Amino acid sequence: MPEHFTPRAILVTGGAGFIGSNFVNSFMAGNPGCRLVNLDVLTYAGNLENLKGVENNPSYRFVKGDICDGGLVARLLAEERIDAVVHFAAESHVDRSITGPEIFVRTNVLGTQILLEESRKHWQAKAVPEFRYLQVSTDEVYGSLGDTGFFTEETPLAPNSPYSASKAGADLLVRAYHETYGFPTLNTRCSNNYGPYHFPEKLIPLMIHNIMNKKPLPVYGDGLNVRDWLHVKDHSVAIECVLKKGAPGQVYNIGGNNEWRNIDIVNLVCDLLDAKLGRAPGENRGLITFVKDRPGHDRRYAIDASKMRRELSWEPSYTFERGIAETIDWYLANQEWVGKVTSGAYRDYYDRQYGVKP
Ligand code: NAD
Ligand code: TYD
Repeated sequence: MPEHFTPRAILVTGGAGFIGSNFVNSFMAGNPGCRLVNLDVLTYAGNLENLKGVENNPSYRFVKGDICDGGLVARLLAEERIDAVVHFAAESHVDRSITGPEIFVRTNVLGTQILLEESRKHWQAKAVPEFRYLQVSTDEVYGSLGDTGFFTEETPLAPNSPYSASKAGADLLVRAYHETYGFPTLNTRCSNNYGPYHFPEKLIPLMIHNIMNKKPLPVYGDGLNVRDWLHVKDHSVAIECVLKKGAPGQVYNIGGNNEWRNIDIVNLVCDLLDAKLGRAPGENRGLITFVKDRPGHDRRYAIDASKMRRELSWEPSYTFERGIAETIDWYLANQEWVGKVTSGAYRDYYDRQYGVKP
């Protein structure tokens, strides 16, 4: 097993988003000695209310800013003596990338290159004894599978959406920085996440939200596309594990071996919510509406995460049964959060906390 790396000051980008905020909360709870700087520009997907539990922690600092601002990134790396970067910040929604790809290239490709470049200079200046750069990526860079087989770390990249193409472009830059400069990179590629703080434009929280409001449940195409679902807390633990134990230059696939057809997930969420909301059995399924398919819709994703298990002794702790039930309960208990993120009202919270307009 590779040597253990213990970060002292970590720069997290996109830490106000879905996975980033879950990671910040769990990492700060488990690593009280480590400084954590969260750089997030607060797009529609970033929400500081996700981070209420850490905002008064003296080891934590939030900076509202853009990863494309190289000067800001360089200043933060130097003044905080950062020895690890964990890069979540991205435009993350496939449907948005189909209608507006440009911002995906700017944030996901150019933003990653700027972050890599400033981090490389900081590392080469020997500002800190050891350094790690961790790129958080997705299984979508591998493209689509047929009925059988799994993505391994050796599967060629074949992205099909502007989102996945921009993530693949970023992954290739990460590879190039390792090959060209010997820069100590790590690259994780994870399957679909679910759990608390998931923006209700993605399948699972959208279905929960629409069921609660008795709105139609749009299922794309025939509903038989397959996704491999992992609880966001298992993903957070996996990232921490790769950061501390991963070998520089390596790619690690992360997944829960948990494949579901979309229609089966939607039916399951409908049935669980029939019971929780006291509706008649089958009532929520009546809201399902098959709609036009997403262009270029990948048919099936399935991750082979055996390298994570074999080399880093990581495995998921959530069963899907527990994870989905807890997630539904979280949305039922946090209706106010959903209302605020869908209306954009959480931006007022930023004003109150920091006294400036985002
Ligand atoms: P998200 O959309 O919920 O959050 C993205 C965050 O990045 C937001 O807080 C946003 O404000 C911030 N951001 C966007 N542009 C920025 C910029 N220019 N500068 C600074 N901050 C910026 O995304 P997510 O679902 O939490 O995904 C996080 C990462 O994990 C992404 O890189 C994504 O590709 C990857 N990923 C996501 C999934 C998934 O299922 N959601 C699965 C695998 C990998
Ligand atoms: P999504 O949550 O957007 O994640 P991704 O496209 O990155 O996998 O979608 C998950 C699956 O659900 C995908 O096959 C598209 C499908 N889908 C629907 O059928 N209806 C919807 O309203 C959404 C948002 C997604």
